[in-house]
Amino acid sequence: RFHKPVKEVHFASDGPLGHYDRQQLQRGFQVYKEVCAACHSLNLVAFRNLADLGYSEAEVKAIADQWQIEVPSIDPATGEPNTRKAIASDNFPSPYANETAARAANNNALPPDLSLITKARHHGPAYVYSLLTGYQNPPADLPAENRPGTGLHYNPYFPNLNIAMPPPITSDGQVTYADGTNATVDQMAKDVAAFLTWTAEPKLENRHRTGIAVLFFLLIATGLAYMAYRNIWAEKK
Ligand code: HEM
Repeated sequence: RFHKPVKEVHFASDGPLGHYDRQQLQRGFQVYKEVCAACHSLNLVAFRNLADLGYSEAEVKAIADQWQIEVPSIDPATGEPNTRKAIASDNFPSPYANETAARAANNNALPPDLSLITKARHHGPAYVYSLLTGYQNPPADLPAENRPGTGLHYNPYFPNLNIAMPPPITSDGQVTYADGTNATVDQMAKDVAAFLTWTAEPKLENRHRTGIAVLFFLLIATGLAYMAYRNIWAEKK
């Protein structure tokens, strides 16, 4: 029995002319911050990169201020690493001290860093959306060996059908969007998938724009070459 193909879902960044919907990216960031960041890091994204989403410098600083960064020293009283508040140039850290602690908190599974997840999985954005909205009860005819074991959750979009991540987005209104958008489960899943598309490819719009400019140039160059060819051979029979 195989996992399901991803759901059909449209994102503003799709296609050769695709661009990011900044409002949507901000909503997706809100979902990441309030839900996913409890377990997942974004090691390749710095707080100051959020300026790309339209946040001001002051807003970026206020966001960074809500995260703690470990410093390379141990508090002798607790044996835990000392921390300081994050600043704009820090990257989004993992909520766990190390892999052992991360696995200990997640039934021995490791929440992956999400920076590049939409590149690391086929149909990345649609996969993330499908995964988040795809949790369900195992079908009655599911063979016993495919049923979720302890601490696993049936999700037909996950390649091995049973995932250690508990459903993270479960109810409408779980996040209160700053822009007033109605936070349905579907909307939150779509927004965070769009946000994770941006974390994996922040320069997507430059790439698309360059591609269009290159095609336009080639079109003109082809026209000139054709006219030169006609001109060179004009007098010859
Ligand atoms: C795995 C996304 C919240 C724990 C994953 C994967 C994605 C993801 C894309 C990788 C699946 C794969 O390997 O193909 C998200 C998003 C979240 C979120 C977008 C917020 C909306 C959470 C939370 C927890 C968590 C809150 C902890 C309670 C895990 C774990 C795995 C995982 C343990 C590894 C699962 C396994 O390998 O079986 N998540 N996650 N996630 N996530 Fe999350």
